[in-house]
Amino acid sequence: PAGERVAALLAAMTLEEKVGQLVQMANPDVERHADLLTAGAVGSAIVASGAYAGNVRDAGTQASHANALQRAALASRLGIPLLVARDVVHGHRTVFPIPLGQAASFDPDLVRACARVTAREARADGVRWTFAPMVDVALDPRWGRVAEGYGQDAWLTSLLGAAAVEGFQGGPDGAGLAEEESLAACAKHYVGYGMAQGGRDYAEVDLGPVTLQNRHLRPFRAAVDAGVATVMSAFHTVDRVPMTAHEPLLRDVLRGDLGFAGPVVSDWDAVGEIVRHGLAMDLTGAATLALRAGVDVDMVTGAYATHAADLVRSGAVDEALLDDAVRRVLALKVRLGLFERPFADEGRAARVHLAPEHRALARRAAASAVVLLRNDGVLPLRPVGRVHVTGPFATATEELLGTWTLDGRGEDVVTIADALRERLAADGVEVTVDDGRFPDASHLAAREADLVIACVGEHPLRTGEANSVASLELPPGQAEVLEGLARVSRTLVVVVVTGRPLALERLAHLGSALVLAFHPGTEGGHGIVDVLTGDVPPSGRLPASMPWVTGQVPMPHDHLPSGRPLDPAGPLGRYRDHSDAPQYPFGFGLGYSAVEYGPVRLSAERLGAGEVVRASVILRNAGEHPAVETAQLYVQAHLASISRPVSELVGVQKVALAPGEEREVTFDVDHALLAHRDARGRLRHEGGPFTVRIAPFAGVGGGAGPSAQLDVDPLPDAAD
Ligand code: IFM
Repeated sequence: PAGERVAALLAAMTLEEKVGQLVQMANPDVERHADLLTAGAVGSAIVASGAYAGNVRDAGTQASHANALQRAALASRLGIPLLVARDVVHGHRTVFPIPLGQAASFDPDLVRACARVTAREARADGVRWTFAPMVDVALDPRWGRVAEGYGQDAWLTSLLGAAAVEGFQGGPDGAGLAEEESLAACAKHYVGYGMAQGGRDYAEVDLGPVTLQNRHLRPFRAAVDAGVATVMSAFHTVDRVPMTAHEPLLRDVLRGDLGFAGPVVSDWDAVGEIVRHGLAMDLTGAATLALRAGVDVDMVTGAYATHAADLVRSGAVDEALLDDAVRRVLALKVRLGLFERPFADEGRAARVHLAPEHRALARRAAASAVVLLRNDGVLPLRPVGRVHVTGPFATATEELLGTWTLDGRGEDVVTIADALRERLAADGVEVTVDDGRFPDASHLAAREADLVIACVGEHPLRTGEANSVASLELPPGQAEVLEGLARVSRTLVVVVVTGRPLALERLAHLGSALVLAFHPGTEGGHGIVDVLTGDVPPSGRLPASMPWVTGQVPMPHDHLPSGRPLDPAGPLGRYRDHSDAPQYPFGFGLGYSAVEYGPVRLSAERLGAGEVVRASVILRNAGEHPAVETAQLYVQAHLASISRPVSELVGVQKVALAPGEEREVTFDVDHALLAHRDARGRLRHEGGPFTVRIAPFAGVGGGAGPSAQLDVDPLPDAAD
């Protein structure tokens, strides 16, 4: 019936009305744009975009506005509803940690739950489509958009990206799309955007086909398999062709190999940018290339609105191509239930925004994102006479929200200082606070305190779209302030709030504990303090390696072995001025108790084609505090038709362990998990000798954690 409805509409549409479905307009206001909407000249609209708006909430973000736009669209000849879109990335009014912080949880259920609440709150403002999740694998933390994704590992990004899709859309396969609390998701930015040269946003990308298949396409496959409704093509060029005009990657790979059947939307003005890339002289040429390449919706350029109908009339673009694109957009509108329920309930936002259970989830998510990097035993905090909290993030509000938080408000945020006061007052601890702007005053207060907590880091405006950095150190001046505090404080704990992995060499020995919190969201203060006090065991793990110095990046844990591998025990690395190893490797994070790993046991030494071997390890909480351990399953293939990485993450399990408790953790090593893809995207199950490791983090050169050897039988390649 959906197909029939779409076919009937398509048959009734004029060429101009068809083109209208492919036009996305930015920030329409009803007075100025009602005529266009009613003429059927606009199919979807972004309401109030912008990479960082802090606590800006304008009329364009409310249900009444979306409803007014919708009324104008429904007054069009065929009554086709408008698709209202917005960048609702890691929360709406309740803001969760940035996706990179959510990734530190290594927990798909948590990511799914955050996306679900995000969708619930955004729907209450009339939003039906979000441009999230970002599933670009980001190896270079200089790139500001590293904040918006799930880190540097393709397997983890696939797992969490798919979970986010399910959360936004109300379940797998898009089956929940029409529910009252769902949004259409958008896997972006297709593809390879995380490889921008030098970490400079919008810069070119050069990618070999095998790496493209095994690393960068992998999360998009997972998102498509999870039923993602839409995909956004990226700004950049891949091998000198803009993604907006990349017919082989859009039509052959995304639609053909990955089987994606929904609409592809361009990134902002990216159709127009084809001209600047030098592939077209004007918007007519740009629209021709984008339409032929398979970009269905032109985000805000206006090139389709102005030229697409003429291109069809002149024969430059086949009408069948245009019809396919329109069909995909209409089919999405049908699947969303937009025809039946085009309007938002204008009273709902007041009921669902910042609901207590949303705040509770945000608090849990913020705590799950905290990674304990170093601790000499000062944490968890014990009652002392006086704690002094200082630094630019001690009393920060909207700066805790992170990039793409259009609807979060500073006034809703629980600060770190307030959360500490609230929690420590119960233990009779006096908490003094300053924001670090007057170092002398901070020093005086620090001198008199038993413990100092310094909250430093980077402002969200330094992260996200178009915000790359050349240095991964703390922003200028902060390390010096910390060094001063370290000199005058009895005990110093450093909390780093950040949108990216940083290079914290200067903090390697500074103070008693180092805590990484990412931009933690509305309940950031509570979540961080829950971990500092030990009310919640630290369980965050790094979703990307942290270098000592900027010059070491990129630092993938899943690099290739090299013909001249480093001797990890040897004195020299490849750099003459530095070690090769990261300061903190991918997957790393401490708890308050040491967790010991026993030997890896395999249920068989040989894995037959299509079979499963069980790999298990005994974990023991050897300390006095509860622990939540994140056991990570890594494999290394030693023989294949291509060089394969020294460590490939293929499984994760989070295990709660009481003090002294022992538990066996078991992973199924499925034959299918060990495959790789060739340049054409075909799965290869080549077999051979593998190392299987279960480890607390990724090692250098594949080294950390106990391991076992597994012989794997090949599986004949499936026919092409
Ligand atoms: O969704 C975003 C995209 O990630 C970057 N450019 C703008 C789009 C819409 O706001």
